[in-house]
Amino acid sequence: MKIAVSRSIVDQVFLGDCRELLAALPDQSVDLIVSSPPYNLGKEYESKVALDRYIEEQVPVLAECARVLAPTGSIFWQVGAFADRGTLIPLDIRFFPVLESVGLIPRNRIVWARQHGLHARKKFSCRHETVLWFTKGDEYTFNLDSIRVP
Ligand SMILES: C[S@@+](CC[C@H](N)C(=O)[O-])C[C@H]1O[C@@H](n2cnc3c(N)ncnc32)[C@H](O)[C@@H]1O
Repeated sequence: MKIAVSRSIVDQVFLGDCRELLAALPDQSVDLIVSSPPYNLGKEYESKVALDRYIEEQVPVLAECARVLAPTGSIFWQVGAFADRGTLIPLDIRFFPVLESVGLIPRNRIVWARQHGLHARKKFSCRHETVLWFTKGDEYTFNLDSIRVP
């Protein structure tokens, strides 16, 4: 598969496996990547594996994201926590060094506080997820005035 990239590709949706779709994109052709990848929880679209293996499997995806990002591009990687037999490991802690290792530059760790979720009995209930914002370079778009809260 080869995807023809034009400046107006923003109005097209491609349905498929991100690993194949990313491979079809030229270098430095993407301005913005926003993803909430599988969290390795054993949902219907994933097989739950050991945490280290899960992260290893995500590395090639993030390497491809770094390859296709334009020099002024940004990636927003939204993750929650990996739960296993009572433990709870925030995934962004594991993803942060991976994003750095593929040459991306950290800008913000955004916390999404939410009301809903499972009620824990032996620890505080998890009520947030995080969005890691990394850029390809030091020149990037950030329209602060558009999102200021009076
Ligand atoms: C944590 S969910 C994100 C849900 C999304 N934020 C939403 O609100 O619908 C992970 C999503 O990644 C999709 N997914 C899993 N493996 C994928 C792959 N290899 N390529 C593309 N999408 C994949 C799943 O189908 C699922 O919708």
